Amino acid sequence: MIGPELKFKDQVVIVTGSSSGIGRACALHFANNGAHVVVNYSSNAEAGQKVLNEILSNGGSGILVKADVSKEDEVKAMFSEAVNRFGKLDVLISNAGLQQDSSFLEMTLEQWQKVIDVNLTGQFLCCRAAAQQFVAQQEATKETSHSELAIGKIVLMSSVHDVIPWAGHVNYAASKGGIMMFMKSISQELAPYKIRVNSVSPGAIKTPINKEVWSDPTKYQGLLELIPYKRIGTPQDVAKAVAWLASDDSDYVNGETLYIDGGMTLYPEFADNG
Ligand code: BGC
Repeated sequence: MIGPELKFKDQVVIVTGSSSGIGRACALHFANNGAHVVVNYSSNAEAGQKVLNEILSNGGSGILVKADVSKEDEVKAMFSEAVNRFGKLDVLISNAGLQQDSSFLEMTLEQWQKVIDVNLTGQFLCCRAAAQQFVAQQEATKETSHSELAIGKIVLMSSVHDVIPWAGHVNYAASKGGIMMFMKSISQELAPYKIRVNSVSPGAIKTPINKEVWSDPTKYQGLLELIPYKRIGTPQDVAKAVAWLASDDSDYVNGETLYIDGGMTLYPEFADNG
């Protein structure tokens, strides 16, 4: 239950795309650790409301905000609402993302654009809004605060496909590869302001995004062959790592990508080959 010793006591955390999957697990984890959480959804209001209800019934604090992260005005409105309600911002978990799969030969411009808009431009808009807010807060408190710790933390949701090429998903892989350089570049630029930026790259995590694979026994077996640790990940596996990167325990970690993948990036096909 909520107690004074909790890691994120009274911190304000926005988790984009938190009506389901990894975002939902992050929202619940931060709320259970004392944060005021902004639960964000783009289209499924009912699912978003359920997450918020779970937070509130656990004794946590939060609000529900609708915003499509690829729309500048909606992102601005979401950040304003968060700051108006809770007075500040401490953490952004820039998580919202989607897949629109197609062979490359048949991929439409619409499929390409949608994934880039949400997964990459959405990260740009949310990270920029968070960084602007952090800098404004730092200006306002610079006379009174003497803390050496980061004044704002950002964790971006990437994927193992920021390094593993993925045929049939080139829009998605390109967006995640883009996130890596975006994250490192803004981390370099924002570190002097005492803003820390890192990302996590999950492997196969049991969420709605890949249900088609884990719900089919044959495809599920094929998936396990790609994971040396021989289990599919849970959203909580990711939430715990995200929370560490957003906490003061990782204060000297900047511009890093943490792979949470049961070893998927270890070239498992080479274990008895090559
Ligand atoms: C994708 C999943 C996939 C996993 C491992 C994730 O980024 O969203 O659909 O199962 O990578 O390939």
